[in-house]
Amino acid sequence: MSQVTVVGLGPMGSKMAETFLAAGHEVSVWNRTASKADPLVAKGARRAGTAADGELLVVSQISYQAMYDSLGDARLDGKTVVNLSSGTPAELRTAARWVAERGGTLITAGIMVPPPGIGQPGAYTFYSGPKDVLDRHAGLLGALSELTYVGADQGLAMVYYQAQLLVFWTSLTAHMHAMALMRAAGVAPQDYLPYAQTLFTELGDDGPMGYAKILAEEFAAGVYPGAANSMHMQAAGLGHAVDTLIEAGVETTVPGALKRLFERVVAEGRGDDGLGTVIESIRKP
Ligand SMILES: NC(=O)c1ccc[n+]([C@@H]2O[C@H](COP(=O)([O-])OP(=O)(O)OC[C@H]3O[C@@H](n4cnc5c(N)ncnc54)[C@H](OP(=O)(O)O)[C@@H]3O)[C@@H](O)[C@H]2O)c1
Repeated sequence: MSQVTVVGLGPMGSKMAETFLAAGHEVSVWNRTASKADPLVAKGARRAGTAADGELLVVSQISYQAMYDSLGDARLDGKTVVNLSSGTPAELRTAARWVAERGGTLITAGIMVPPPGIGQPGAYTFYSGPKDVLDRHAGLLGALSELTYVGADQGLAMVYYQAQLLVFWTSLTAHMHAMALMRAAGVAPQDYLPYAQTLFTELGDDGPMGYAKILAEEFAAGVYPGAANSMHMQAAGLGHAVDTLIEAGVETTVPGALKRLFERVVAEGRGDDGLGTVIESIRKP
């Protein structure tokens, strides 16, 4: 049995505290709005007197500012703070210094599942910070998800986390545009679904549509062959897709921005390169 204090009892923190309790750990809980601790206290958690009450603080709040607000001017000598809140890499590095100035150690983390996924098979979390400190708490943190350690630099957990979320949000928004277009043509979402599922799977596979891997290899090599799929063709094709949305009366904020990006690639003189060359424009706004 290990001891842990969960700070922040929103949907994520509450599920984390429940999961630690279910795994047999001794759990203390703290939240700015104290009443949110009640259901957890009823399940056997201890009500912590302050956010800094404990040797291992597992934090899940809306932002890193919330951690500053919660810990205030408390000393953190010898304590480990594991923060699973989202933020920017620079905010995490600043927070690591802030915790160190108070005598503690910050482990940063980006958890890649929503509340129902916590503690379930397939859940994983990116962790960064001193590995020896993380290793000491790996047994306990393993109750939440698999641990994916990405490096000592405390900013790294958020670099990985935000990269994954960008793919998540933009690909799912594209899926919503596609479904809205189908609906405008009278096609039910369920009838379109198998094609979307096939495409999502193929993009991550190794076949001819395996563009996650193809683009990673091209980017690593810095070479973007365009003989079979030039940017001239891609920009024209995307223009037709945007026109199709307009024709259907669907809004075009994101596809329109993508069209402007593709047109910029061509204007920059790389119209004969392949799709992968878009990343060179993304890197230089
Ligand atoms: N929900 C998800 O699917 C998901 C998945 C992965 C990662 N995350 C990340 O996990 C973190 C927590 O998410 P969540 O969904 O549980 O809810 P949330 O709405 O992001 O955070 C709610 C928590 O933050 C606390 N809080 C907000 N401002 C505060 C302040 N100034 N001082 C002290 N506490 C403050 C709230 O306290 P009060 O109760 O007092 O308002 C509550 O405990 C976020 O960073 C989120 O990005 C969420």
